[in-house]
Amino acid sequence: MLSSALPLFIAVLFCSRTHAFTAGESEAQEVADLKLAPTANDRLNLLNPDSNFVFNFTAARTGGGAAGVVVTASAGNFPAVVGQHLSMAVGFLGPCGLVTPHTHPRATEFNYAINGSMTVGMLTENGARFVSNTVNAGEAVIFPEGSIHFEMNLGCDSMIFVAGLNNEDPGVNSISQEYFGLPPDVVAASLGNATAEQVAQIEAQIVDNVALGTDECLQRCGITRTKQSTTQRVQRVASNALPSGFSGPPAPPASTAAPAGVKLAGSLADDASNSSTKLRTLDIVLIAVVGALALGYVAILISYCARRGKQNKNGGNKGIYTRPGAAYAPGGGDDSEKFMAPGEAAPFESFQPYSEGGARTTPYDAPSGAL
Ligand SMILES: *[C@@H]1O[C@H](CO)[C@@H](O)[C@H](O)[C@H]1NC(C)=O
Ligand SMILES: *[C@@H]1O[C@H](CO)[C@@H](O)[C@H](O)[C@H]1NC(C)=O
Ligand SMILES: *[C@@H]1O[C@H](CO)[C@@H](O)[C@H](O)[C@H]1NC(C)=O
Ligand SMILES: *[C@@H]1O[C@H](CO)[C@@H](O)[C@H](O)[C@H]1NC(C)=O
Repeated sequence: MLSSALPLFIAVLFCSRTHAFTAGESEAQEVADLKLAPTANDRLNLLNPDSNFVFNFTAARTGGGAAGVVVTASAGNFPAVVGQHLSMAVGFLGPCGLVTPHTHPRATEFNYAINGSMTVGMLTENGARFVSNTVNAGEAVIFPEGSIHFEMNLGCDSMIFVAGLNNEDPGVNSISQEYFGLPPDVVAASLGNATAEQVAQIEAQIVDNVALGTDECLQRCGITRTKQSTTQRVQRVASNALPSGFSGPPAPPASTAAPAGVKLAGSLADDASNSSTKLRTLDIVLIAVVGALALGYVAILISYCARRGKQNKNGGNKGIYTRPGAAYAPGGGDDSEKFMAPGEAAPFESFQPYSEGGARTTPYDAPSGAL
């Protein structure tokens, strides 16, 4: 009884879990649940309550560099975009703030200046000319997928841009940070006659995005270029290590946490309670129980086969199968075949149940005095 009720219970448990995210469930698990959902309606039910459809860019406006931050709402921090094929970035640029040159490996960007003006530029691919523009409030510029591009606030006041990206996981490849994160001797060779030490010295100075912009802008706005943080550089492993003895600041350790300045909307941003951990534990226990049951069934099967083998040995492999017909069975027989040892009077009379204690397991009653 238990063994038949348990799978049902487990099924109910798993089904109930699909109705909404569990509080504190990991971002990756939520996105995985959404991607596995068979229909859009199933995704809608997972995104419960309604606030899961709203992303607060203002609340997520932390981190970044000395001159601002770009906040992106994408599959990495906003599960509602899963299945929608787009994401959105909002740039909060301080005076002269430069979004350092970068590409989006999986998306074209359509960037709209809310207020203020920005100078932008891009290189779409080898052989393409450099394209440059000034984009004023109320205008938008397009950066094709994969193009190297930058945006810089031309003004001495802060400004905001909003960019649509046609992929829920657009990705960013920051050119300076990534290029100088390659093996220093390879970078040195690609620069001609540079040394790995020179490369390492430059690499150690690569500032975080959004960075202070050009000298022209800073001077115009009366801004001094202060020392900026350099935490976005590539993590070093053995195969791209800096020259031994290099005394520059080490790149920060790789972080497994969500990008800084990124928060979830609605209930997804709520407490990281331990309920999901508990649920996971329950799942594991249930899986163990089911596994034990399966092992039990296997044990029963092995036991059955062992007895069967023993009987074969005793009664002989000379045993025959007979069909106990109506002639032998008062009240009607059945058509199933029964194993019978040779030389026994009648199939019905001589039937030996395998189970101990001699209880009959045939579907008909034994005649009185039988056995
Ligand atoms: C968005 O976040 C900001 C900062 O946390 C907060 O002041 C504001 O009330 C939030 N907006 C809404 C609509 O909740
Ligand atoms: C743009 O909007 C932001 C936020 O309201 C404001 O702080 C900033 O001063 C504005 N910039 C310009 C150039 O109007
Ligand atoms: C390369 O640089 C070294 C100094 O670092 C210099 O002595 C050498 O002449 C340079 N070679 C070429 C081909 O420029
Ligand atoms: C979750 O559990 C761990 C260890 O059991 C504990 O250290 C942590 O504070 C808990 N987190 C919350 C949010 O309760």
